[in-house]
Amino acid sequence: MSTQIRTYLVTGGAGFIGSNYIGYMFEKYGDAIRIINLDVLTYAGNLGNLKDVEHNKNYIFKKVDICDRDAVGAIFAEYDIDRVVHFAAESHVDRSIKDPEIFVRTNVLGTFVMLNCAKQAWENADGSFKADKRFLHVSTDEVYGSLEEEGTYFYEHTPYDPHSPYSASKAGSDMMVKAYMDTYRFPANITNCSNNYGPFQFPEKLIPLMINNALQGKKLPVYGDGKNVRDWLYVGDHVKAIDMVQEKGRLFETYNIGGHNEKENIEIIQIILETLRDMLPDSDVRKAHLKDELITYVEDRKGHDRRYAIAPDKIKAEVGWEPEIMFKEGIRKTIQWFFEHEDWMANVTSGDYQKYYTEMYEK
Ligand code: NAD
Ligand code: DAU
Repeated sequence: MSTQIRTYLVTGGAGFIGSNYIGYMFEKYGDAIRIINLDVLTYAGNLGNLKDVEHNKNYIFKKVDICDRDAVGAIFAEYDIDRVVHFAAESHVDRSIKDPEIFVRTNVLGTFVMLNCAKQAWENADGSFKADKRFLHVSTDEVYGSLEEEGTYFYEHTPYDPHSPYSASKAGSDMMVKAYMDTYRFPANITNCSNNYGPFQFPEKLIPLMINNALQGKKLPVYGDGKNVRDWLYVGDHVKAIDMVQEKGRLFETYNIGGHNEKENIEIIQIILETLRDMLPDSDVRKAHLKDELITYVEDRKGHDRRYAIAPDKIKAEVGWEPEIMFKEGIRKTIQWFFEHEDWMANVTSGDYQKYYTEMYEK
């Protein structure tokens, strides 16, 4: 890296993966980088996720909607941005089934606004782009649809076949990034990652929801037969991959990110119960809650994708990335983090979360 400070514009940096990314980047690069975190703070955005960096002189927070082209354009005008890392999105499949419109707005229109503002700021008069500018669009393996057969995997060349409004909106955003790369040679990459878990994950998603419910002796709601398969990756491995793709990946390429860690949902829930039993001391009253009878089969998610599984061969061969945290270790680290951040969980599950939970699981 040159001695000049490099400026990152991170969207959605107050969410789960974005906040882990910002923490990782300051730990890795220290004062050599400046990060502008652009986030409108939806229910999923929480400045409490950024306590460790909020006083860093090279960290700037802007409460901005990615669909607001004037506000986003003003940030590109104010700062000489070198890297955009675009996380901001509506990210929960169940919410997209109930209320798809916001997914189209944020994920499709918002991505378009980000691309267009970056293009305007980075484009030279002759249509080429300023040197060493890069945009990374963070996407999902769900754009590839659902795998039915064991032993089949999602590759970068797998045709898109999204099923939920969430995955369709992410596919739309990926297509817009591809269009900018193909039409304008806009300097970008796309990453498509499998399911993440780890610190700061909002408890609407499977793993934090099950940890939180189990500790309170609440039912553990399993959709359908519990045999849907997801390919779980510790969030620290994902954010490392994003940085490696941006620095070592070939421009205009897509990289799939995943750790060959496929598990049925019911297996995940059983591992969580076992790990909690193992980690809680006998003196902890919550240990008495941890009964298998908490597991409750409920109505299936509409259009529920059966299985996701990433082939991470390309990122390994070209970028040299491999996951470092295996599931057994990652789930213990995650549970330990939740033990140490009870106030965080209490804070994010107050207010609107209760309404969401009642509508989703108790009506
Ligand atoms: P998240 O829901 O935890 O966080 C999303 C963040 O985006 C929040 O801070 C929210 O306030 C912000 N945001 C939403 N709408 C915005 C808008 N209009 N303007 C500005 N900010 C806005 O999401 P996450 O789980 O951290 O996922 C981040 C990205 O990674 C998403 O693009 C998602 O599709 C992708 N992804 C997630 C996973 C996963 O397992 N969580 C896996 C692969 C890819
Ligand atoms: O694959 C990457 C995707 O992973 C990301 O793009 C999404 O942003 C992220 O939310 C995640 O999507 P999933 O739908 O796979 O994750 P979720 O945690 O919502 O559900 C995981 C599995 O667990 C899924 O098969 C549904 C099931 N499930 C989920 C919840 C919340 C249950 O059985 N019960 C539940 O209460």
